Formats: sequence, structure tokens, C-alpha cells
Amino acid sequence: MKQTIKKAIFPVAGLGTRFLPATKSMPKEMLTVIDRPLIQYAVEEAKSAGIEEFIFVTGRGKTAIEDFFDYSFELNHTLELRGKIEDLKKVNDVVLDAGKVIYTRQQEPLGLGHAIWCARHLVGNEPFAVLLADDMILSKQPCLQQMMDHYDGGNMAAVMQVPNDKTNQYGILDCGAEDDYKIVAKGLVEKPDPAKAPSNHAIIGRYILTPEIFDVLEQRNSGAGGEIQLTDALQKLIGEIPFHGFKFDGKRFDCGSRRGFLEASINFALDREDLRESIKSIILELSQKLKD
Ligand code: UTP
Repeated sequence: MKQTIKKAIFPVAGLGTRFLPATKSMPKEMLTVIDRPLIQYAVEEAKSAGIEEFIFVTGRGKTAIEDFFDYSFELNHTLELRGKIEDLKKVNDVVLDAGKVIYTRQQEPLGLGHAIWCARHLVGNEPFAVLLADDMILSKQPCLQQMMDHYDGGNMAAVMQVPNDKTNQYGILDCGAEDDYKIVAKGLVEKPDPAKAPSNHAIIGRYILTPEIFDVLEQRNSGAGGEIQLTDALQKLIGEIPFHGFKFDGKRFDCGSRRGFLEASINFALDREDLRESIKSIILELSQKLKD
């Protein structure tokens, strides 16, 4: 029987150092692609996949995220007075249902694995999703929905092939049997040197996990970069709990990096009917200039 996933964790407690100085006083997840913060894209993806409870693992300086998903009395009042009905709809659409959104804090940014562990009591004993807002995915069907459609237990993460010299930036699969959608992992390695990488199938920021992961994370073993790594905990469970890499259909952008962020902005704009023609003409003008 298919398991339904109703809870999702959004780890948003990272420091976002690659975007300093912007992230000095603003959460990375609130950086805007076109007219929406990164975190809104992730929450919308989760909502469209049927997620009902939204668990944010935040840190100091991240209150803008809470305010964003909350009702804004002053703004609503002003927009109402001015008859700005469309704008009112836009701000109200992002408000998450009362009692369905939970914020907890990771007091120190000790790594993604630690951030997820911080939500252990809020998840309880059921499989759950994890979405990293800085990984944006442009696809016909939202990536998490694709994963849910193929989920039949165990741990699962979205994977994509990366250039061989980039394996040291990702969690990498040691691949076993595979079909059109899933790859069984014989093992997982966090950020291996290209010479030692078992494959170039890299994990990106969409997961469906079983609660057993919390017991492993509880041991607080640190790995690459001195951080408590989720990949290491998943690796420990292999043999006990199967791990599948899911080959999603779509294009992923690393919005934690400046290049990826720019690329995402252009691609998401091209994907929007209201912006496609403008962005096309900008690109054509620029490419002509670069040729001259
Ligand atoms: P990153 O690896 O991109 O780290 O985290 P970062 O700190 O956000 O950014 P840089 O590398 O300093 O620029 C991936 C995701 O995991 C969360 C981040 O908020 C981001 O969504 N994260 C990371 C935490 O919640 N806690 C952590 O301790 C580390």
C-alpha cells in the first residue's frame, strides 16, 4: 500500500555565507527569484504534493521567514482600503493555515543532518519529506510529487548526474540496480574527491525519509567540513533500510551559488507567460552585443 507523506521539514538555519553581504541581515531563503522568495517556491512544491504540515528549522536572524508566511494585518488593511484586490490575493495566498506550521530553532548551524534532527519530536514516527529551498527545480510535475508517486518505503533522495570533477560538492551514490526512475544505493559518500567517487549520481535537496534517521543523527557524528551530515546518517542505515536515488524529470538550479541563482532567475522567467517575451528580448539583445 502506498504511504502518504503529510509532513515536510524545511531546514533554513544555514548561514548562507556564499551570499554575503546580502545574507548578513536577510535569510538566504528569502532571496527573491523574480517576485517570490526561494522558500515560497519550496513551500508551493510541498503543498502541491499534498503536504499538510510545514516544519521550519530556523535560526537567529530568520524571523523574516515566519513573518512571510503569516497574516500581515497592516498590509492587508492598507491594500483593502486602496481596493488592491489582486495584491491582497497575492499576500493572502502565501499564508499557511493556522496550526499547520511549526517553527523550531537550530541553535548552532552544525550541519543539515543536525538541522533535521532538531525537528525529531515534531515529525514523530512517520515518513516525512525534506526540501532545501536553495535547490530550485523547474519541471512539468513538481519534483516532490514525482518522488511520492514512486515512493514505496525506505529512504529516497532526488539525484542527478553531475560533471565528474564536481563530485566533491555533493553526496554521491555507489549505484546498484536501477530502472527508469530509481537507483538502489549500495552506499553513499559525502563530497568524495573525483578520483574516489563511486559514481557521478549526486543527491540534491529533495528527500523522503523514515524516522529511523533520527536515531542515527542522535549520535551527532561529524563528517565532511566538521558538520553533522545527512548523507553519512543515510549511509549508516543502508543494509537496514534501503536507499533509492530518484531520477527526477526536470532541471535543478543551485541557488546557494551566485551562478545558479542567476541561471534560475533567467530560466524561471522564461517559463512564465507574463515575462517570457521580455526576457527573450533581453537575451537576444545581449547575445547580439556579445557577438559584436
Ligand atoms: P548549505 O550547504 O547551502 O549551507 O545548506 P548554507 O550555510 O545555507 O550556505 P553557505 O554554504 O554558507 O553559503 C543547505 C540547506 O541546509 C540548511 C540551509 O539553510 C540550506 O537550506 N542548513 C545548513 C541548516 O538548516 N543548518 C545547517 O547547519 C546547515
